[in-house]
Amino acid sequence: MAEIKACIFDMDGVLVSTEIYHFKAWKRLTETVLGFSIDEKFNENLKGVSRAVCVDLILQHAGLHKSPEEKAELAAQKNKWFLEYVQTEITPANVYPGVIDFLKSLKQKEIKTAIGSASKNAPLLVEKLGIKPYFNAIVDGNMITKAKPNPEVFLKGAELIGVPPENCVVFEDAKSGVEAAKNAGMHCIGVGSPEILTDADFCIRSFTEMTVERLRF
Ligand code: BG6
Ligand code: MG
Repeated sequence: MAEIKACIFDMDGVLVSTEIYHFKAWKRLTETVLGFSIDEKFNENLKGVSRAVCVDLILQHAGLHKSPEEKAELAAQKNKWFLEYVQTEITPANVYPGVIDFLKSLKQKEIKTAIGSASKNAPLLVEKLGIKPYFNAIVDGNMITKAKPNPEVFLKGAELIGVPPENCVVFEDAKSGVEAAKNAGMHCIGVGSPEILTDADFCIRSFTEMTVERLRF
């Protein structure tokens, strides 16, 4: 049995309910600028992947072609709307139930913690939510070049806290993120539905179910 010495958390949809605002902003972009709509099923593909890759997936989905400049404009518009939602709707109260208690219990047991997020907005959100003191390291979208399912974001997190991948467990709500954790040689607990996160070792619906004792693989 592998000893778990570190927990690495995805941010959007794992620590905080921001995934809904990413979806709202992409949907607004497709409906008002591109002339079609996306649903929650398609949105599963957008979870966990970088902003630029999301633009490519959306255009591919609609069979549209755009220049690099147009793609950059689409990404910037989406991010503007996302940040507007975040500014008005996100407070420390949006950290998911059970998260802070679980982070405190990890600290008590001297298990290290990191964030591994594809988001370039992660530093801003972590600050806004007041959760920075709970983490030994934060890796965000500005520090990586390869989107999940590439394992770069989690391997960098493990390196920063000095824990080998086999002693790390990743918490993820996205298919691409579960794949990234597995590609990193890490354990993975899915946050969400086991029907969607099929490759996770097991899934939880909420951190209120999570205890240090369940970190056994
Ligand atoms: C991930 C989200 O955490 O970050 C994705 O799951 C999002 O939906 C990605 O596209 C990139 O985020 P940002 O904030 O840099 O556009
Ligand atoms: Mg996520």
